[in-house]
Amino acid sequence: MKSAPQPLRPIWLDETNGDVNVIDQRSLPHELVVLELQNVDDTIYAIQEMVVRGAPLIGITAAYGVYLAVKTAPYGAAEDYLLTECNRIKAARPTAVNLQWAVDRVRSEIADLPHDDRLGAARRMAGIIAEEEAENCRLIGRHGMRLIESISQQKNGEPVNILTHCNAGWLATIAYGTATAPIYTAHDLGIDVHVWVDETRPLNQGARLTAWELGRHGVSHAVITDNAGGHLMQHGMVDIVIVGTDRTTYTGDVANKIGTYLKALAARDNGVPFYVALPSSTFDWTMRDGVAEIPIEERDPDEIRYIQGHTEDGLRTVLVPPADSPTANFAFDVTPARLVTGFITERGVCAATEDAVRALFPDRTV
Ligand code: MRU
Repeated sequence: MKSAPQPLRPIWLDETNGDVNVIDQRSLPHELVVLELQNVDDTIYAIQEMVVRGAPLIGITAAYGVYLAVKTAPYGAAEDYLLTECNRIKAARPTAVNLQWAVDRVRSEIADLPHDDRLGAARRMAGIIAEEEAENCRLIGRHGMRLIESISQQKNGEPVNILTHCNAGWLATIAYGTATAPIYTAHDLGIDVHVWVDETRPLNQGARLTAWELGRHGVSHAVITDNAGGHLMQHGMVDIVIVGTDRTTYTGDVANKIGTYLKALAARDNGVPFYVALPSSTFDWTMRDGVAEIPIEERDPDEIRYIQGHTEDGLRTVLVPPADSPTANFAFDVTPARLVTGFITERGVCAATEDAVRALFPDRTV
C-alpha cells in the first residue's frame, strides 16, 4: 500500500511520476488506504463512490482529472476529445458546484495552448486550485475564529459549544476545512471549544470523518445522533452552528448534506446563530432560487439499507431495515437564506443576502 506524506492531505500529486494519489475516505477512520488515480475513469469512480467527497475536494480532484485526461489522451486525439472527457467528469456528481467550476477553469487555461504545452499547464492549474483552496480555508479560519472568540468572551472563557453537520473538514477540502477551520484556529489560539458532531446518516461522515479529524487535532468533541441537535439547542447546549455547503446561490440559499435544513430551523427557533463557511468556489453565480434550482443528488438506496462498521475481523457491512423495505436516499437539502445568520468566506463574514454577497465579491459575475 502507498503511504501518505505528512502533513496529511486528502489528495496529492507524486512529483516524481505525476501520479495523483487520494485517501480512500470510505475506509476511515479505521483504515488509512491510499488509492492512485490513473485516468478519467478512476477520477469519476473516486468522485461517484465517495473515495473523495466534500465540495472543494471534489473540485480539486476534478481539476486533476482534467490533467489525467490530457495525460492519457490517445495520440492524435481530436480536439473534441478533451471536451467529452471534461463533460464526463462534470457529470460525476450533480450538487457540488465546485466540480464544474474547477473543470472549466483548467480547461479554459489549456484550451488555446499548443498541444505539447497542455499537460504541464493542466497539472500546474490543478495545483494552483488546490493551493488557493487551502489558503481560502486558512482565511475562513481566521475570519470565523472571531465569531467563536466573541462568544468565548461573552461566556467568560467557558467552553464554546459548536454544532456541525457532515464533514466540512480538511478531508472535504484540502487543508483546515471550511466549517472546521474556525474551530481549529480558535482551538490553536487557546480558546476553549467543544464540538457536537452530527453522525450524518447514511454514510456517517460526521461520526467517521469529523470525529477522526477533531480527535487527531485534540479538539474536545462528542458524536451525537442526527436528531439530537434540537434538544441540545433547547437546553442552551449549543452556542453556534457552523456547517459547510456544496452549492450556495448568490442570493444566499445553501445546499448542504441532508439534515442541514432541520438544524437551521431548530437554530432559528432557539435563537442560535447559524453560520455557513464556504470558499467563493462554492457560490453559484447563476442561480437565484436554491430550493427550486439546485440539483439534489439521489444516491444508491443501499447506502441507507446497509451500515458499515469495524469488527475484530475488519470492516463489515450489515443490513438494517427489513430486506424488502424500499428506501429513498436524498443526499442534500437546501436551507433558505432567511434561516442563515451569515457566511464565513475567505474575504470575511457577510449576511446571507444578495447585496452582502455582491458587496464582498464585486468581481464575480452574476
Ligand atoms: O456527500 P458529501 O460527503 O460529498 O457531502 C459533503 C457535504 O455536504 C459537506 O458539508 C460540504 O461539501 C461542505 S465540504 C467543505
